[in-house]
Amino acid sequence: MPDGQPFRPLLAVRNLRVEARLAGRDLVAVDGVSFTLSHGRTLGIVGESGSGKSLTARAIMGLLPANTRIAGGEVCFEGVDLRPLSDREMRRRRGAGLAMIFQDPLRSLDPTMRVGEQIVEAITAHHRVGRAESRNTALALLDAVRIPAAAKRLDDYPHHLSGGMRQRVMIAIALAGRPRLLIADEPTTALDVTTQAEILDLLRQLQQELDMAMVLITHDMGVASECTDRIAVMYAGRLVEEGPTNDVFARPRMPYTRGLLDSVVDVDTPPHALLHAVGGRPPSLAEMPSGCRFHPRCTRATAQCAGQAPRLAPAGQDHRWACWLPLDGEGCNESP
Ligand SMILES: Nc1ncnc2c1ncn2[C@@H]1O[C@H](COP(=O)(O)OP(=O)(O)OP(=O)(O)O)[C@@H](O)[C@H]1O
Ligand code: SF4
Ligand SMILES: [Mg+2]
Repeated sequence: MPDGQPFRPLLAVRNLRVEARLAGRDLVAVDGVSFTLSHGRTLGIVGESGSGKSLTARAIMGLLPANTRIAGGEVCFEGVDLRPLSDREMRRRRGAGLAMIFQDPLRSLDPTMRVGEQIVEAITAHHRVGRAESRNTALALLDAVRIPAAAKRLDDYPHHLSGGMRQRVMIAIALAGRPRLLIADEPTTALDVTTQAEILDLLRQLQQELDMAMVLITHDMGVASECTDRIAVMYAGRLVEEGPTNDVFARPRMPYTRGLLDSVVDVDTPPHALLHAVGGRPPSLAEMPSGCRFHPRCTRATAQCAGQAPRLAPAGQDHRWACWLPLDGEGCNESP
């Protein structure tokens, strides 16, 4: 960066609030989330089911479900707040600027369209190219995501492909616009362990080749530790700890983060069981606890925890956490 120019992150999410309308009530599903992401870097978002990871991702993309909405905050991409943009302007940015791989590849692909047509559609949405050229580009994309016999696969329907191959097609579609930011929401959840590792390797290679930034949402702390530069931990709609991956893993400051890290000790633990190492269950949207939302499950909670929510330091500080525990130099070293 030239001297004297202010640092501008690729993505800056500030005080994001997402509300969901349920049974006539507006419930807060994402509550005051702030973080930044630099060019070419990877931020992991971790947290138990229902903590607000996908809604945060969808809010960034401008693709929230119909009964949910951004109720506050900013999503700045390359210095521009995306919130006030029209649908047309957002569509232009999606794909070429930012793209997303969704949690469920089978539902995200159109079962009635051949794989090649779906990739061509994604290419022509962003570039003025003829049919033959876009088919060649589709072929190159299938090669890039390491699909064997790619020319034959172009004419397959999604149900002809294995889960791993479908996920590769989703990645090819997401890359069609050559995005600067890729959001991958649990990109390997439904896959076997070997295929998971292949897809994560592929994402890392493509990220380097294309110099893309990535937000990687995962339940798996092992994946988060291997694949990310920074980690954001969410609990009950809030960001509760965020910092450089090495630092958060070496010195987790919040008991909830410690619990998540304890969940990866056993390599034989099935991926979906990983987060059950934290005792108890997360709260429902309709009944959020007062103060620190983790206090009913936290063995170190005090009266202050139930009465007052600890605040996370502002985005930009290197390692931030929301917890009343005094800093003892070692971080939080007890399981919740
Ligand atoms: N369309 C919706 N309408 C109402 N509530 C919703 C909707 N989508 C999500 N929620 C609720 O918002 C909260 C956050 O959901 P979100 O999907 O972001 O969680 P998540 O962290 O991605 O979970 P998972 O790990 O299971 O994918 C949850 O309590 C969820 O039930
Ligand atoms: S603020 Fe209190 S309840 Fe919350 S994590 Fe820290 S010690 Fe536990
Ligand atoms: Mg999700």
